[in-house]
Amino acid sequence: MPENEISQVSRRQFLKNAGIIVGGTAVGSSFILSACKDREIEVTKEVTKTVQVTTVKATFVCPVCSQEFDSISALASHLDSAHPGEVETITKFVCPFDNTEFGSISELKTHIESEHLVAEPLDPSIVTLNVNGVNYLLRVNNHETLAWTLREQLGLTGTKIGCDMGQCGACTVLADGVPIYACLKLSREAEGIQIETVEGISDGHELSPLQSKFQKIDAVQCGYCTPGFLMAAKGLLNVKPNPTEDEVRLALSGHICSCGNFKKTIEAVKGGV
Ligand code: FES
Ligand code: FES
Repeated sequence: MPENEISQVSRRQFLKNAGIIVGGTAVGSSFILSACKDREIEVTKEVTKTVQVTTVKATFVCPVCSQEFDSISALASHLDSAHPGEVETITKFVCPFDNTEFGSISELKTHIESEHLVAEPLDPSIVTLNVNGVNYLLRVNNHETLAWTLREQLGLTGTKIGCDMGQCGACTVLADGVPIYACLKLSREAEGIQIETVEGISDGHELSPLQSKFQKIDAVQCGYCTPGFLMAAKGLLNVKPNPTEDEVRLALSGHICSCGNFKKTIEAVKGGV
């Protein structure tokens, strides 16, 4: 073949001339053939994959004789005719809340929706909170925590929020003298309880003896955890004025100091004030 004709040879013609039969199943396979006087001719073949689809057919099996059917209605007819009275049908629906019985699922559903699914009021509640001996009349959202109300509504920011999930102790306040995590207490549930925060343990001018001891021993570094430790310590000293180290460790075990100042904190509480 003359050289000036080589560039014009078609792919089909080349394959025919070369006597090559291309077969196979790969998609987008490329063949580089070095022939025709050192010129390269690229032959590309695309083959569409064949996908085999399998359809699954549901089978309904008779629970009495194991005979199979194509539809639920065919099975139901079979049960009626071949096994009358042999299969127990559900005729009683029992309320899981109060055990009232109903004849149908729709009756039970209506009962549960009307009697047991009472939506909580979305409106904020008006509550009276007693904090550090002062009564406050407050409007609080139903999901509002005591820690949030103390800080954001009353401005008592001595109560810190660290984890906001009951793991660090930074939010600890006293509820009727007992340490609690204020981040786990809803404000609307705190009515009728005497709440004491870190602001309440001094007179606003002089540090309390416990605070003075913390200061003297350097039981404070950044101070973020300190109000929580102070309130937990005060809760302990309310019932154990002269606690041992083990008692202090136990009482403060729900508190985390990111600065790692545990040793001096325990020392400050041990033996009381
Ligand atoms: S903020 Fe309440 S336990 Fe951490
Ligand atoms: S003193 Fe900093 S976290 Fe405790």
